[in-house]
Amino acid sequence: MDATRRTALRAGLAVGSAALVTGAAGVASGAPRADARPTAAAVIPRSDPFTLGVASGDPEPDGFVIWTRLAVEPLAADGRGGMPTSRFQVNWQVASDERFDDVVRAGVVTADPAWAHSVHVEVAGLQPGREYFYRFRLGPHLSRSGRALTTPAPGSSPTSLHMAFASCSNYPAGLFTAYAALAAERPDVVLHLGDYQYEGGGTGIGRTHAGPETTTLAGYRQRHAQYKTDLDLQAAHAAAPWLVVWDDHEVDNNYADDIADRAVERPGFVERRAAAYRAYYENMPLRRRSVPAGPDLDLYRRSTWGDLATLHMLDTRQYRSDQACNDGYKDCPAADDPSRSLPGLDQERWLLDGFRDSRQRWDILGQQVFFGRRDNDPSAATTVSMDSWDGYRPSRQRVTQGWVDAGVRNPVVLTGDVHAHWAGDLYLDYDAVGSTKPVGSELVTSSITSGGNGYDEADGTHPWAAWNPNLRFWTNLRGYVSTTITPTEMTARFQCVPFVTTPGAEAFTRATFVIEDGVRGLQQEQAAPQRELRSSRTDAQKIADTIAAETHAD
Ligand SMILES: [Fe+2]
Repeated sequence: MDATRRTALRAGLAVGSAALVTGAAGVASGAPRADARPTAAAVIPRSDPFTLGVASGDPEPDGFVIWTRLAVEPLAADGRGGMPTSRFQVNWQVASDERFDDVVRAGVVTADPAWAHSVHVEVAGLQPGREYFYRFRLGPHLSRSGRALTTPAPGSSPTSLHMAFASCSNYPAGLFTAYAALAAERPDVVLHLGDYQYEGGGTGIGRTHAGPETTTLAGYRQRHAQYKTDLDLQAAHAAAPWLVVWDDHEVDNNYADDIADRAVERPGFVERRAAAYRAYYENMPLRRRSVPAGPDLDLYRRSTWGDLATLHMLDTRQYRSDQACNDGYKDCPAADDPSRSLPGLDQERWLLDGFRDSRQRWDILGQQVFFGRRDNDPSAATTVSMDSWDGYRPSRQRVTQGWVDAGVRNPVVLTGDVHAHWAGDLYLDYDAVGSTKPVGSELVTSSITSGGNGYDEADGTHPWAAWNPNLRFWTNLRGYVSTTITPTEMTARFQCVPFVTTPGAEAFTRATFVIEDGVRGLQQEQAAPQRELRSSRTDAQKIADTIAAETHAD
């Protein structure tokens, strides 16, 4: 792009400028519109419409999605963010530098009230493997800027990928300090593995959900807006592109496909799911392929990082068979029924095809629920969570056998959902853990806040590990996991915050595990328990805490 063009683009976004940037290079695609009628100029709100921050996501070698949503009153109960019912023309810019001296793409996108004044721009034509910055303008109002990256070119050989992953940020349960710590790392990409927001109403420790339990489009829109007002969450979105997948609480606790967990919620649940999915799309940096159609939203997808890594992002809610034996921790024969599936049979096939086609050194599964076995019963009975892969054992076996048969070089499963950090090795036969070798590893991130202030133990061992030797590490502190992936190893740092109910917690690394290229199983590098965080809880209490965190609606 020549200098004259850059100057023109910059001028177009200058605060207070009346000029609109039109016909600029780059591909602008607004939220879907019912028609393409031009609208009269809308009256620009006087107060800041960028109260929800900015986000980027779904990076590709030539671009990414940039997102924002206009709202002058984020907590408005009708979910409209205090915006008038007119469309607005929003300017956007992408620059190669943080000061926006070198604007490389710019355009205009329509913010439509039909889509809660959200905008999703699929920026294309960028260079692979590069850092960019983006921002939006509406009239005199300029948004904060965000940082995004394109993925490395196909066939290229990146030397490292800095990836962080997180899960379970319940707003009333505490402060999002762990998101601020994640943002400060400025990772290359963030994986959010679900329970980004919670559906319940009510008050927690110092923070309260606006509105009652979310069941309507207005309610889900208001809830998303409330979360996005959190400055720590805004910082995390602005720090890096995200790949998001959901778990249950974006809709309703422990739902499966179109079946609500509680019988009383089943009438009208498909409409509720449609409202939740629509609000999810409106509020997340997703591509057009994820525009919902009624109660359906296309979410599972892949992202590749040159020849270094494939990230297989799974949706384990939308297509799953109903939980066996009415959910909970059970010893349940139906968990061995091969006709049942956790991702659904189509997604299982897609995943197995992906294993066969992968040419990357690391195959990372970003997904929601616990993958390896966790048996609550030291006797011969197998009492396990019906909501996790333990409740869908043939489905787990097909996926595991699938990566083994495909010769996947380094399979690693990433998990959220359970409000505790765990690390474990994965096996084809969990009855033969002592006498067979692992076929992969699982890294489980704790919650950002869910469960409130946690606790630690000096040995980092859950009581279940005594009879589940596949389980290698556990702590009940809040936090996220930071990883560095290179051609020779993947390093996972289990980051923790000592408390979430008051501000100012400093994140620290509780444990570090390394997976070496071509070597199955986790190797622990370092353990750093914090003495003052040790609890005096008995093993029975720790087990009760674990089950409660996973079976209650929080
Ligand atoms: Fe959760």
